Amino acid sequence: MSTYNENARPKVTTASLRKMKASGEKIACLTSYDFTMASLVDAAGIDFILVGDSAANVMMGYDTTVPITLDDMITYAKGVARAAKRALVVVDMPFGYYQGCPDIALASAVRIMKETGAGAVKMEGGSEIRESISRILSAGIPVCGHLGLTPQSVNKFGGYGVRAKEDAEAEKLIADARMLDEMGCFAIVIEKVPAKLAARIASEVSCPIIGIGAGHDVDGQILVVQDMLGMNRGFAPKFMRRYGELGDTIEQSVAHYVADVKAVDFPNDSEQY
Ligand code: KIV
Repeated sequence: MSTYNENARPKVTTASLRKMKASGEKIACLTSYDFTMASLVDAAGIDFILVGDSAANVMMGYDTTVPITLDDMITYAKGVARAAKRALVVVDMPFGYYQGCPDIALASAVRIMKETGAGAVKMEGGSEIRESISRILSAGIPVCGHLGLTPQSVNKFGGYGVRAKEDAEAEKLIADARMLDEMGCFAIVIEKVPAKLAARIASEVSCPIIGIGAGHDVDGQILVVQDMLGMNRGFAPKFMRRYGELGDTIEQSVAHYVADVKAVDFPNDSEQY
């Protein structure tokens, strides 16, 4: 199997994502939270790496994304940004750092941009956070929207079910997507909504729509990298396809190492000085 040649294409920018939408080239996105994983993901040709606040679940073991802090996100994002040679690195603004006051929102986004070397931020919500998005955009910081299932609002939704199945919520989602597009968001993640609704939005707005559990008639796809590699074995929602079974591989490899150490088989004579 050939690997991706990172020198073959220039660094991905918000403008190149728009060009990809215009030309019909699908945008491939994954999360990463550390240097090693991001290096592999970038070398494989991913267009857009999200330092998602799903780090709260995947890296820190929290039940929701609510507890993760701005300092946590900045630490994860620094490693990812150092690794990404080609992909655009986008960092989630964590819960509590942008919903209320636009000044706090701008200060949070500025810290992310100054301290991490990332190229953009992502924010969950529509009209409710319009002022914060506007302030950040006016400072020259690219913003990716996030609509549909917005996990930071899990306590309001009461779970992680499919969103916008009813007309009223679907209409609000369409209006929010139009608003984010008109404001100048460079892309919008749409999570766990009916495929027909996501397709309609993708065809009506000019910015790329990146789907997760939103069907294939959108401009790109995103998954959590540990989920698609099979490292988070208990998690298997309908929308997720597993491209590897790294959880099994890691557990078996570690068990093999434990057995070798106990049996004084590791290190052997050629593995010492
Ligand atoms: O935090 C995250 O990983 C996300 C993706 C699932 C879109 O927001």
